[in-house]
Amino acid sequence: MVERYDSRPIGVFDSGVGGLTVFKAIARRFPAESLVYLGDTARVPYGSKSARTVERYTLQVGAFLLRRGVKGVVVACNTASALGLDALRAHCAVPSLGVIEPGCRMALESSPGGRIGVIGTRSTIASRAYPSALMRANPRVHVVCAPCPLFGPLVEEGWTRHPATRLVVSETLAPLRRESMDTLILGCTHYPLLKEIIQEVMGPEIRLIDSAAAVARELDRHLGHDILPAPPGHARTLDFLVTDVADRFQDVARLFLEEIPVVQVSVVDL
Ligand code: DGL
Repeated sequence: MVERYDSRPIGVFDSGVGGLTVFKAIARRFPAESLVYLGDTARVPYGSKSARTVERYTLQVGAFLLRRGVKGVVVACNTASALGLDALRAHCAVPSLGVIEPGCRMALESSPGGRIGVIGTRSTIASRAYPSALMRANPRVHVVCAPCPLFGPLVEEGWTRHPATRLVVSETLAPLRRESMDTLILGCTHYPLLKEIIQEVMGPEIRLIDSAAAVARELDRHLGHDILPAPPGHARTLDFLVTDVADRFQDVARLFLEEIPVVQVSVVDL
């Protein structure tokens, strides 16, 4: 058997800092893989922008990562996955994965009664990308969606356990509680940091689906197939790139990345 390896990095793209939840999951699961994170901090948030704009941004970032020599692109941003992934796949010379299909697959596997809630930014929810993907896979599934535009800013302030956040989460998720969902997809990069509060508010029975874990699992299926793995013993690099000032990124990144070191952050032009 011919062993084939590729030491080029995998690109991980997000509108800002939130995609570091996905970066962390990938970095932990694949310790030999080099990764390049691109946070489009100059244009964040994507979650309140039009479909056309998000698609254009996604294509620009994809082209940038290709010029950086990545062997695959993970679109960590739910909004960009919902609105830009199809266009990216049509234009991108390397395989690209989004968070929506893996998240839906994981939700369908874990939902006992097929009652699945989805929370995300306004643009992700308006796109109906999650319910469409869920219903394509299982037309009998009952899906209820709720936009949660306030969650992202609260996370970025570090208010992940603050009483004000608890109140906002409780008010925003009230419609989902009334519908007695059994599974909830955290359809935004920031929401895994609110897992504890969301679990408290929704009750212990609800299963929370973290798209970061789901996309890392999906990447496992690609490595060795359409994306070649790094050679054994490869000393990997972790690069962090942003499109606007890096200081705030450094602070928030520590909150998101835990043990993963942020050595240096570079500001780039797309
Ligand atoms: N990364 C975005 C997402 O997962 C959240 C932040 C934004 O609105 O850009 O949808």
